[in-house]
Amino acid sequence: MTTIDSPERIFELLSAGGGEAYFGEPVTVLEHSLQAAWFVQRKGGEETLVAAALLHDLGHLLHSEGEDAAERGLDTRHEELGAEALAEHLPAAVLDPIRMHVAAKRYLCRANARYLAALSLASVASLALQGGPMSAAEAEEFIALPHAGEAITLRHADDAAKVRGLGVPELETYRALVERLWH
Ligand SMILES: [Fe+2]
Repeated sequence: MTTIDSPERIFELLSAGGGEAYFGEPVTVLEHSLQAAWFVQRKGGEETLVAAALLHDLGHLLHSEGEDAAERGLDTRHEELGAEALAEHLPAAVLDPIRMHVAAKRYLCRANARYLAALSLASVASLALQGGPMSAAEAEEFIALPHAGEAITLRHADDAAKVRGLGVPELETYRALVERLWH
């Protein structure tokens, strides 16, 4: 398992993500992460949720399966990879929404037919690999978990964060925030 032992390392990884295409979407992993963080912040989200949004796809920068993993029928479980890598240094209010952001998609597909209809093609393709929409029992269990609401808010920001060329605050804007939450 990969662990991340400093905020510095996070920023190195995300900067490197500026060169990585984001899974069939018109943005890089870095642009996607910055847009997600900005959307949460603009809605008045807690600092912990802004950090979660910025870091939710860090797991994609920790595996070596490449951008076409989903096309090859592989679920990299990036949400677990990312949360585990940060587990020793960030609070549950950051880690839980990261770990739960794929489950939140599966939950929303169950709870809201319009949500499923509006998903991007790449997101629909990975949904099947991730287990498809939740069953009623799974949805009930999910929504009772701590930070389920935050994971859903993060998910909506995640889904929206695919806008080509959108001007948003740059990566450095978030360094102080991540350092404050780091322990
Ligand atoms: Fe994402």
